[in-house]
Amino acid sequence: EKQGFRHFMLKEIYEQPGVVRSCLEAYLTKDWTAESGTSPIDLGIPSDFYSDVEHINIVACGTSWHAGLVGKYLLEQLAGIPTTVQYASEFRYSPPPMTKKALIIGVTQSGETADTLAALEMEKTRRSAKGGDFAPRLMGITNRPESNLGRMVDHIIDTKAGIEIGVAATKTFIAQLMGFYFLALDLAFRRQSIDLDQIEKIMEGLRQLPSQVESVLESQERYIEELAHDFAETQDFIFLGRGINFPIALEGALKLKEISYIHAEGYPAGEMKHGPIALLDAKVPVVTIAMPGGVFEKVLSNAQEARARDARLIGVTPMDEMEAAETFDTLIPVPHVDEILSPIVSVIPMQLLSYHIAARRGLDVDQPRNLAKSVTVE
Ligand code: F6R
Repeated sequence: EKQGFRHFMLKEIYEQPGVVRSCLEAYLTKDWTAESGTSPIDLGIPSDFYSDVEHINIVACGTSWHAGLVGKYLLEQLAGIPTTVQYASEFRYSPPPMTKKALIIGVTQSGETADTLAALEMEKTRRSAKGGDFAPRLMGITNRPESNLGRMVDHIIDTKAGIEIGVAATKTFIAQLMGFYFLALDLAFRRQSIDLDQIEKIMEGLRQLPSQVESVLESQERYIEELAHDFAETQDFIFLGRGINFPIALEGALKLKEISYIHAEGYPAGEMKHGPIALLDAKVPVVTIAMPGGVFEKVLSNAQEARARDARLIGVTPMDEMEAAETFDTLIPVPHVDEILSPIVSVIPMQLLSYHIAARRGLDVDQPRNLAKSVTVE
């Protein structure tokens, strides 16, 4: 039931601190310290299943594909494993050359998406036929371990999000991201691809996420509801991010398209000047995710390029960053978190913005037109 919320989507957005907490409780090794010599993460997956992988292929659709893009960033930057992410519907019909010692990961909230299951099945068949170093090693990331995905793969990371009712994925997306943090950290520890100090720092940051997500909800929801009034008639939106927040820009655009039927595009901020900037004028708001870290200054200067086109600049950025505060016309402040963990907080304003714009337009947020929760046709 909706428990007093107007829509399931909003209820599920509010469940996210609890989902992050459940993930941490389920998968962080109890009483772990850097001296303990064990992995900080306990996924219950035997080490010989994946410690030696040389390549990772992620297949997924929609929002789960965006989670896969964040996963690629984490697996490459933390675990040092070359990773490719493909839409399942593309992978299936133009499969890449098989690489040795590859781990194939299917990401799907429902565990039933036909394209994703078909891509995994195809991969399993061709790898089994070849055998040896090409033998299939399949994993799934889902909140529905009892699904067909669960039956098809060797190991599942159960993301502990529970069933999601709103068609637009929110809490299941955050839970998939958590799954990728755990996977990347476990592999990073086993392969010693980063220092223990760095692992310790990320572990410390992970533990703070539930309260940080909570604080964004508490401090920003009303404000974003107000802000949504300004966009009831808007026809186009641009979302910008870079690095680990580029997929969050894509996710912001997808959420808005799905439930509010407003045209929106997500871009890596550095690509603006290569074409899309021509679209901008005073009628096209630009939402920029600017989280402190390696690309922070670059993102701010990309946002300033949009200013020259009179676009309204909305920044998702920590309040204590003066330079960022001066760059944007409208600020949606979020906590200051380590860049590597920042998608978990930066995605919350994306969800709230799309929710409130759609609700403001009087649309059926939980059942958007032409969409189904589980896409079982190819
Ligand atoms: C976005 C959305 C869809 C799904 C996509 C994949 O809010 O709901 O884009 O993410 O259909 O679904 P799953 O994760 O069930 O494979």
